Amino acid sequence: MKTRLYTPGPVEIPARILRALSQVPPHHRTDVFRQTILKRVTEELKRLHGTEGEVFLLAASGTGAMEAAVVNSAGSGDKALVVTAGKFGDRWASILKAYGIAHETLAFDWGTAIDPAAIERALDRDPQLGTVFITHSETSTGAIHDVEAIAQLTRAKGRRIFVDAITSVGVHPMPQDAWGVDVVVCGSQKGLMCPPGIATIATRAVGSASGSRATGCRASTTTCSEGAEERSRIGETSFTPPVSLVLALEEALTMIREERAQRSPPPPPPPRAGDARRRASSSASACSRRACRTRSPRSRRPTASTRARSSSGCARPTA
Ligand SMILES: Cc1ncc(COP(=O)(O)O)c(C=O)c1O
Repeated sequence: MKTRLYTPGPVEIPARILRALSQVPPHHRTDVFRQTILKRVTEELKRLHGTEGEVFLLAASGTGAMEAAVVNSAGSGDKALVVTAGKFGDRWASILKAYGIAHETLAFDWGTAIDPAAIERALDRDPQLGTVFITHSETSTGAIHDVEAIAQLTRAKGRRIFVDAITSVGVHPMPQDAWGVDVVVCGSQKGLMCPPGIATIATRAVGSASGSRATGCRASTTTCSEGAEERSRIGETSFTPPVSLVLALEEALTMIREERAQRSPPPPPPPRAGDARRRASSSASACSRRACRTRSPRSRRPTASTRARSSSGCARPTA
């Protein structure tokens, strides 16, 4: 009998990913590894995040990526606003405190969803608040926060937003460039279905959301080191990466891509003569037919990776 722990992660690892972990790891300064990182893992991560910016891989837990993001936000002269409604929101404040970075905290009751209007009031009160630190899916309570609405505010007001998406990447959509989220941090052991040990920092493409003074992840720490962007472009990390975990992540990202392809609605048939006239006279029924198609049981059928990932990024044991 298999022992299962019902925790919010690390999740149970699908067999395909376990098999990927058992490969002989290539050296990280060889072409085969550069190709793996550059062409597949990094590009797939960018697709998953919805960014044309950069995605940095760190050998760290999720908190390591939070810390790297905080260190990279320092020195701007701005104060930070930590918005929290749980244990992991509080973690942003602890890290800022440890680095002596000026910040104020806007706290909501645990279990509630953060109110964007309260953030707007705080930003209006203090123009020095340059960066908002927030959690997307607050694992300690199960609440998901409206990052889309909050990023709309930070963009409009020329502030930056850094999001802990450690349990939401791969589970809840957060198209980074489209929403204007400056920095997103993630860990490998939740929605990405891998063992712990890889953390990522994704920066939005500069200019993808006008009005923000964000510069994203500046190269100044040992993790996002000097030249990290250039290295990322040639498919290398600055320091020795957890090669076997990268191979696991590659497999996980392939599974996610396959699942998405399976769930996306089939392309519409090519138009035929007379279609335009028929559409004009029956647009309402065409609409409802489309809705039917996207809700078909086939599109909701769980696959290996949905079974491994629940809606909150928690481990849901596979059958
Ligand atoms: C939302 C959130 N943030 C941060 C963390 C911390 O991640 P790690 O334990 O990988 O450092 C977790 C871990 O559960 C989390 O769920």
